[in-house]
Amino acid sequence: MNIIEIENLTKRFKDNVALDNVSLTIQRGEVFGLLGPNGAGKTTLIRLLIGLIKPTSGTARIQYNGLGPFDINKDIMEIRKKASLLPQEADVYENLTAKENIMYYGQIYGNVPNGEVRRRTEELIDMIGLRGRENDITKEFSGGMKRKVLVARALVMDPDLIFLDEPTTGIDILGARTVRNLIKRLAKELNKTVILTTHDLSEVEELCDRVGILVKGKLAAIGSPDELEQQFTRAHLEDVFIGLTTGEGVLEEDLTTKKRRGFISRILRRR
Ligand SMILES: Nc1ncnc2c1ncn2[C@@H]1O[C@H](COP(=O)(O)OP(=O)(O)OP(=O)(O)O)[C@@H](O)[C@H]1O
Ligand SMILES: [Mg+2]
Repeated sequence: MNIIEIENLTKRFKDNVALDNVSLTIQRGEVFGLLGPNGAGKTTLIRLLIGLIKPTSGTARIQYNGLGPFDINKDIMEIRKKASLLPQEADVYENLTAKENIMYYGQIYGNVPNGEVRRRTEELIDMIGLRGRENDITKEFSGGMKRKVLVARALVMDPDLIFLDEPTTGIDILGARTVRNLIKRLAKELNKTVILTTHDLSEVEELCDRVGILVKGKLAAIGSPDELEQQFTRAHLEDVFIGLTTGEGVLEEDLTTKKRRGFISRILRRR
């Protein structure tokens, strides 16, 4: 069952085509990864789907269990009732505590009763590893701790559809593992649909049922990590990614793994 059907979606910022005629479908309960170099259009696609910006042309329809389909061009309020976003660039309310940040979000978004928001907030504080710091003002938090609050905030309204734009960026190793386990649980146990972006290919391989690789606004490839490796006859998703984003030329047989790793980190560090 498809939860999202994207049809010829295009977004231009003046002369810059950020997203170029993208069509794809996403199934309910799927963890879908969006990959691509900086500026490829990943955040733009997410912002379009949750209605923060309007398409230049094309559309997408979102259908929840028994509700919809809703069109991103006209039904954004309906879409937002069951969708939430962890933005790539977001900040906590620094004068609120971690708990207040999470609860406040739960109270203003979605349709969750207050008692349930309180219960979910406590649960998320434990799940995300913030217990003991939940009553501290977030102004004093480290970057990664703030990011954890934002992940919890995105989940408190009990969304069916969750957009996570670089959820683990800046979070320490243990915290990133916690977030990844949480994402797996959301999809596998609770049948939530998760769309995430990341520059960490091992994260994609661990989490994603399917990935879409965006290159200069175009969908260059789509499939499970295994399918992409087979389709492009590469042993690793990393090689598929490099081939698609730089042209086949760089994938000389004699290029050592170390060199390739250096190459990809250079691509990915271009911010
Ligand atoms: N509000 C905006 N106004 C003008 N141009 C924009 C705007 N938002 C994005 N763009 C442009 O659209 C293109 C795609 O940007 P986007 O943020 O979607 O990339 P991304 O794939 O998320 O990259 P990153 O990996 O760096 O987060 C870029 O060329 C960017 O400069
Ligand atoms: Mg982005």
